[in-house]
Amino acid sequence: DVYDLRRIGLDTKIFGLIGKPVGHSKGPVLYNRAFKSDGFNGVYVPFLVDDIAKFLKTYSSPDFAGFSCTIPYKEEALKCCDDVDPIAKSIGAVNLIVRRPSDGKLIGYNTDFVGAISAIEDGLRGSRNIKGETGSPLAGKLFVVIGAGGAGKALAYGAKEKGARVVIANRTYEKARELADLVGGDALSLSELENFHPEGEMILANTTSIGMHPKIDETPLPKHALSTYSLVFDAVYTPKITRLLREAQEVGAVTVGGLEMFIGQAYEQYERFTGLPAPKELFREIMSDY
Ligand code: ATR
Repeated sequence: DVYDLRRIGLDTKIFGLIGKPVGHSKGPVLYNRAFKSDGFNGVYVPFLVDDIAKFLKTYSSPDFAGFSCTIPYKEEALKCCDDVDPIAKSIGAVNLIVRRPSDGKLIGYNTDFVGAISAIEDGLRGSRNIKGETGSPLAGKLFVVIGAGGAGKALAYGAKEKGARVVIANRTYEKARELADLVGGDALSLSELENFHPEGEMILANTTSIGMHPKIDETPLPKHALSTYSLVFDAVYTPKITRLLREAQEVGAVTVGGLEMFIGQAYEQYERFTGLPAPKELFREIMSDY
């Protein structure tokens, strides 16, 4: 029930996922069911692409209204856009391309960090149930990012944008230093993080693959060091509950898993594709079967 052919006509907008591979993606079921429930005239399909530049040149008609980009094209996608959002430019990767209706130009965005950051914000708000709060609950907090790769970079930028103070902890200290200088934050080597206890509320985000299936016994930070964090996020989502998240729950922290990051970035993509607010309940319902 992913595609409803009766809904497709000459004026249907075409969206899709550009990647290699694309077969595993949840995008088609998520977006097509949402288009249908919103009465939006669009269809979303996976495109298995060998050459993204050539693909975008070939399918340049206004019908091709937007694309999600995944491995291995996130960096190359940036070069194929006519204009790139400043944050995506800083991160150096684009995972969403939208065709601007007024002039047909391709605009690139990075929604990876938005997904993670909004999931973390929801986690912080949910834990406290603040009504009528304005501004980000991340503002003024200390945000510790483990890892300095693409995902680490995206999260560090996102947290900084929300007014958090950012600390990067990485196995290779030099890479932490480099990223910290780039975003305006502090750097630690991962081995120092265990003994890092500054004042104030702290949030932890793992962006490395530590703890990912099959090495589910591994964790980036031992349990005894977790009690200083009010919220712990893990970008790993296989397993859904990593050792890091389990132990964080055991010491009383709020936890946010990688699946939340995926859902959060899907909201953002949907809104940029359609101009409509994402049907959040429907997205959650679909992903709960995952
Ligand atoms: P991504 O783009 O998904 O973030 P990446 O660019 O390969 O992936 O970055 C992986 C990050 O995870 C790096 O920060 C890496 O640390 P190093 O800079 O020291 O290589 C970190 N990482 C991966 N495996 C790790 C492990 N077993 N222990 C500690 N850090 C690890």
